[in-house]
Amino acid sequence: MSTTPSVQTIVNYIRDHRCFSHPIFEHWSTVAPGPTAVGALFHQIQNFCASTRPGRNFPEALGSLKLDTSSHLLQEIVESEENHGPELATMAGYIMNRAAGAPVNPDLDDQAAVEAKLKQCSDDLLGSLPGYIQSSGLLQQVQTAIEVFERRESTAEEITYKNLGTALALEMISNRHLIPGEKICLIDSGLYEATLEDAEMHYLLEHWGEAGAEEQHEKNAVAALDAILDERTFPLAMEGARDFLESLVAVWDVLDSALLASGQRRELVSV
Ligand SMILES: [Fe+2]
Ligand SMILES: [Fe+2]
Repeated sequence: MSTTPSVQTIVNYIRDHRCFSHPIFEHWSTVAPGPTAVGALFHQIQNFCASTRPGRNFPEALGSLKLDTSSHLLQEIVESEENHGPELATMAGYIMNRAAGAPVNPDLDDQAAVEAKLKQCSDDLLGSLPGYIQSSGLLQQVQTAIEVFERRESTAEEITYKNLGTALALEMISNRHLIPGEKICLIDSGLYEATLEDAEMHYLLEHWGEAGAEEQHEKNAVAALDAILDERTFPLAMEGARDFLESLVAVWDVLDSALLASGQRRELVSV
């Protein structure tokens, strides 16, 4: 059976994937994780997110294949991601402070200090899990998810088409699962008495909603893929989308179980 090479087929595949509706953020809201669990989760999430921002050689690879429209659309996404790292660190430190009920991150503008604190939390909570990389504090699953984006170093034609599928899956997940999920657990849950108007939550304000960066990224990624899809490129793009979704769902699974276990520990301690 052959599948019609259309963007809609890939969009449907991404929407139907377990990653797209993973319950981790709802669980975060109900578990109300303590500051160590909050810091540990943010350490893994921020390292993964950081790996997805640089374009590396990807826009140039598209350009050298004379795929100028797709190259331009990808370059726009890359440029709009600049400087998001410091804002994510500020938000993570702020939420951790609220979870702790104390200024455990005294300077939220000190990205390096906040990120060092997040890693320390990760080492404490997740450091004994199999495959944990002590030097970076990354779970093996996160390292694997990061490696999908390291393919952007390559200018090989097949990898470049895979990278377009990965880019669409990334932007759909960011726009429709990750950013809305962060809004659910960080704002809507009421756990942190945080609002989108708080200066420290600017990262989420910038990414969330119809006027947010992720909505535009998703449109760009759809158009970039639509411009190049044919019988030859379609299976490669599907493969790129699948590699992203499979690696990220493994990340959510391990973080979700750590989150749920941390909640159980809190209950046991409080009995
Ligand atoms: Fe961003
Ligand atoms: Fe994005």
